[in-house]
Amino acid sequence: MTNQRVAVLGLGKIGTILLQGLLKAGVSPGSACATVRHVERARALSAHLPVTVGTDNRAAARAGDIILIAVKPQNVGELLDEIRADVTPAKLIVSAAASVPTSYIEGRLERGVPVVRAMPNTPCQVGAGMTGICRGSHATDAHLQAARQLFDTVGRTVVVDEKHMDAVTGLSASGPAFVYIILESLAEAGVKVGLPRDVATLLAAQTLLGAAKVALETGDHPALLKDAVTTPAGCTIDGILELEEGKLRVTLIKAVVKATQRAKELMFEK
Ligand SMILES: NC(=O)c1ccc[n+]([C@@H]2O[C@H](COP(=O)([O-])OP(=O)(O)OC[C@H]3O[C@@H](n4cnc5c(N)ncnc54)[C@H](OP(=O)(O)O)[C@@H]3O)[C@@H](O)[C@H]2O)c1
Repeated sequence: MTNQRVAVLGLGKIGTILLQGLLKAGVSPGSACATVRHVERARALSAHLPVTVGTDNRAAARAGDIILIAVKPQNVGELLDEIRADVTPAKLIVSAAASVPTSYIEGRLERGVPVVRAMPNTPCQVGAGMTGICRGSHATDAHLQAARQLFDTVGRTVVVDEKHMDAVTGLSASGPAFVYIILESLAEAGVKVGLPRDVATLLAAQTLLGAAKVALETGDHPALLKDAVTTPAGCTIDGILELEEGKLRVTLIKAVVKATQRAKELMFEK
C-alpha cells in the first residue's frame, strides 16, 4: 500500500476521511494527491492537508496508480469522460460513489481498465470504518486485494457480489446516521431521567460501542446477547416492551430498505 500512489478525485467528506486515514496508515504525503471542483476549496484544503489538492483531474489521474473516485454519483460520468485518456489498464479505479455500477465505469473508460467498487462509511475517520467492495469484470484478485488493503487501513472490509452493493449502502454507509439518532435519543433519555448531558452522552455512546464490540468479538446472535441483559421481571424487559410497542425493529428495517431503494436511483439524477 505504502508504495502505491493514490489520487483522490473528489476530496469532499468521504474523500477527506479516506485520505486522512491513508496518511495516518503510512502512505507518504508525496505519493498522494487530490482534486475538488472549486479552486477556492482546493486552496483551503491545501492549506490544511500535507498533500497537493488541485482542480486538474487529468493531472491527478496521471499521477495515481490507484484512482479513488469520491464525487457524487451524478458527477461520475463527466469525471470519467474527462480522465478517459489518462487512465490505462495499468491503473486501478476504485469508485466509492453510491449507485454507480462497475459496468457503467468500465464502459466510459478504455477497454480493460480494472475497476473496484467500494462503499465505505464515515467511521473510517477513526479507523472503525466498514467498507463493502466488489470487483468489475477486468479486476483481478490482486486488484481486489489492493483495494481491500486500502480500506483495511481505516477499518474492516468485506467482499460482496455487486448485486449487494446498494444494500451495503443502505445498511453500513447510511447506517451511522441511523445510529447517531439512536445515540442522541438515548442521551436525551438520560437527560430526562436526570443525568447531566455530557454523562448521558458518554453512557449512551460507550454502551453502543460496547454492545457492538461484544457482538463482533463473540459472534453470538444479538438475541442471545439481549437475553443475557434481560433479567426475568427486571427493568430491561419493561424497556423492551416500550421498544416493541414503538415498533423500533420494523422502523429500522424500513429505514434500511428505503435507503437501499434510494441508492438505486442516485446516479440518474441531475
Ligand atoms: N458521505 C458518506 O458517508 C459516504 C459514504 C460512502 C460513499 N459515499 C459516496 O462518496 C461520494 C461523495 O460523497 P460526499 O458525502 O463525500 O460528498 P461531498 O462532501 O459533496 O464531496 C464531493 C466532492 O466532489 C468534488 N467534486 C465534484 N465534482 C468534481 C469534479 N468534476 N472533479 C473533482 N472533484 C469534484 C466536490 O468539490 P467541491 O468541494 O469543490 O464542490 C466535493 O469536494 C458520493 O458518491 C457518495 O455516494 C459517501
